[in-house]
Amino acid sequence: MHRGAALSLALICAACVPSPKQDYTLDQIGKLESLEELMRVQAQAADPLFKKRGQASYSEAEFQAMINGGGRVEAAATALSLRFGKTRPQPFGELAVKLKNGATELGAAAQARNAARASAALEAMKSACASCHKQFK
Ligand code: HEC
Repeated sequence: MHRGAALSLALICAACVPSPKQDYTLDQIGKLESLEELMRVQAQAADPLFKKRGQASYSEAEFQAMINGGGRVEAAATALSLRFGKTRPQPFGELAVKLKNGATELGAAAQARNAARASAALEAMKSACASCHKQFK
C-alpha cells in the first residue's frame, strides 16, 4: 500500500472503537461482566444514531434503527447502573440511569414516529455518555 494511504487509514482508525466480540442478545448484554465490552456494545448501538440528532424528520428505516438501538442501549445502561453503579461514587449511577431513561424515551418516541422527541432523546443520551466519560473514564 502507498505510505500516504496507510497513514491516513491509521489516522481514521485512531477514532474507531473496537467492535464487541459478538452480536449479543439483549439478555446477554444484561449479563456482561466487562465494562469495556458493555461500552463497545453501547457505542455500536448509539454512535450511528447520534449522527442523526437534530434532523427534522426520519425515514421508517431510521425509526426502526432507533427502536432496535434504543433497546440495546437500554439493556446496556441497565447493566451499567446495576452492575457497575453500586461500587462507584455518584453521579456514576445517576448518569447510567439518565442514559437508560434516554434510551427508553428514544424507543417510545420512535414507536410514536415523533421526530422532535426522538432527536431530544438522542441529545439527552449523548450528554449522559459525555458527562460520565468526563468524570470517570
Ligand atoms: C455512567 C458512566 C458512563 C456512561 C453513561 C457511558 N460510559 Fe462509556 N465509559 C465509561 C467508563 C468508566 C469507561 C472506561 C472503561 C474502561 O476502560 O474499562 C468508558 C469507556 C467507553 C469506551 C471505550 C471502550 C474501549 O474500547 O476501551 C467507549 C467506546 C464508550 N465508553 C462509549 C460510550 C457511549 C457511546 C456511551 C453512551 C451511549 C457511554 N459510553 C456511556 C463510563 C460511562
